[in-house]
Amino acid sequence: MGGKGFLGCFILFLSLASVSTIKQTLISINDLRGIEFGHTSPRHGLMLLHWLANNIHTDNNGNMRFHFNPTRGDYGFHFYGNADRPRPLPFLPSESGSYYSLGNIDSNLNYNGATALPDYVTQSFYNSWTPERNRDRVIIRVREEGSNQFIVDEVYITQHYPPNENRGSAYDPDNTYPVSFSLLTQIQVLPTITRDVIQRIHNVEINDNSVENIWGHTPGLALLLAIALYLTRPKVSFIQQAFSSMDSQRRTQDDDNKSIKLEVKTTDRGCARIIFSGIPKRLLDKGVIWALYKNNDSTDRLDFASVQDSASGSYDTSVSLNPGLQARLHQYKYMFAFALCGKYNTFGEDIHRSPEFHDANREIPVDISGHRPNASLQLFVKDGKACARLYVKKSFTDWKEKFYNSWVGFYSSERKDTQEYNTYQWQWAVNFSEERRSDWKGIPEYDVYVYSSSMTMCPGVQARFMLEKYRGEKARTPPWEVHTSAI
Ligand SMILES: *[C@@H]1O[C@H](CO)[C@@H](O)[C@H](O)[C@H]1NC(C)=O
Ligand SMILES: *[C@@H]1O[C@H](CO)[C@@H](O)[C@H](O)[C@H]1NC(C)=O
Ligand SMILES: *[C@@H]1O[C@H](CO)[C@@H](O)[C@H](O)[C@H]1NC(C)=O
Ligand SMILES: *[C@@H]1O[C@H](CO)[C@@H](O)[C@H](O)[C@H]1NC(C)=O
Repeated sequence: MGGKGFLGCFILFLSLASVSTIKQTLISINDLRGIEFGHTSPRHGLMLLHWLANNIHTDNNGNMRFHFNPTRGDYGFHFYGNADRPRPLPFLPSESGSYYSLGNIDSNLNYNGATALPDYVTQSFYNSWTPERNRDRVIIRVREEGSNQFIVDEVYITQHYPPNENRGSAYDPDNTYPVSFSLLTQIQVLPTITRDVIQRIHNVEINDNSVENIWGHTPGLALLLAIALYLTRPKVSFIQQAFSSMDSQRRTQDDDNKSIKLEVKTTDRGCARIIFSGIPKRLLDKGVIWALYKNNDSTDRLDFASVQDSASGSYDTSVSLNPGLQARLHQYKYMFAFALCGKYNTFGEDIHRSPEFHDANREIPVDISGHRPNASLQLFVKDGKACARLYVKKSFTDWKEKFYNSWVGFYSSERKDTQEYNTYQWQWAVNFSEERRSDWKGIPEYDVYVYSSSMTMCPGVQARFMLEKYRGEKARTPPWEVHTSAI
């Protein structure tokens, strides 16, 4: 018996050894120092991790939860089947949950959920030109609970192989690590800890204000970068280190290009408004032009004007809002070229690119009360008009009966009463038209239905879902651009 037991143990040991390529769990921010993830320019891994930590919370039972829905593709989350070989993550039977991956910002789809991520995550992506910028991923292992809530059981950080190694699009198991909840909690509390704690626990001293100038508007991010990047090269000041390792690429050897903020917002007429700030005087003196493009891949300028010597400001264009719009700042080239060769020759290299415009203003769909997660509502803009999307779970097969008398109305403000929807700006839910675009392939559990109103999108506009003809509001979207969304 004893011999058999021993043999059994031995075989068990062997089989465990053959699958356990999984690295040791990272339990504190300090553990992020010795690894490759997010450490070199222009990688976005540490920003992804910071975003995730600040968008999940622990409930009373110690479970990690979040407000978004990865099965619906929120923030660009997508299902990951763990089918790469060697397998980067532990085998997961389907009844125990699924893996979802976050961080692929490059997408040629019309609807790119990842553009809902904040600027600080996507900025390096649009402003650097190497494939390195799109290698990092954060993966969550998610379980759906009976009450239609999600629980996160595990968090991993991982990365694609270097693009020049021709190893395809698999994740690299040697650079895949489980991340403990305590590490995420440490990231959450970074904005509240004092300088002496930083020095005592993390052994870094931050005496350089430029880190704060660049990342300080995102609470805790400057500190996370300081701690995670500092000790890989001791005795080098953080700012030198961060920007020699984070930013050795094409642009920004100077810190001051980094302070530029540029975004596309909405005018009162459904058009693009360009907002910028932080343009260094050095560039202003040479002359700066803003220009609006259809998207990041486009070279056709839809509108442009020169920036009058002010580091910040805004311009209203007459270009209708559409998904993907991108603003860029260009340096002036030679003025005399204007007369000789036409105006386009006056555009120098672009200094900065905004993220591509997210058609739902970075808001994820809102659940229709009593029907989570079977149905949800999202307000978005197309050709400058207010539009609505219904996400309906495929398993919710009788939704047309349940929503037979339901309608979606468009309101000019959140203060309007139910009957004060804008004239003619409403539609029966069952009359929404199904979107069969390939864009929705990534969310196989849902059908998407849309309705385009003829109401001009402007700040304050809201869509609401009413269950019955005259009453029964079950969902309202956040009013367009009224509240700034959280990190
Ligand atoms: C900042 O942008 C300007 C304009 O493109 C460029 O000439 C300059 O080199 C940039 N700064 C650095 C140091 O990259
Ligand atoms: C943005 O456009 C440039 C070319 O203009 C391209 O090299 C880069 O890959 C594009 N980035 C994205 C996010 O598609
Ligand atoms: C979602 O739809 C399914 C299928 O119709 C149904 O069984 C389930 O009860 C619905 N959930 C809610 C919360 O309505
Ligand atoms: C909804 O669709 C039905 C059938 O296609 C149509 O008769 C009706 O006019 C539509 N309702 C509205 C408000 O457009």
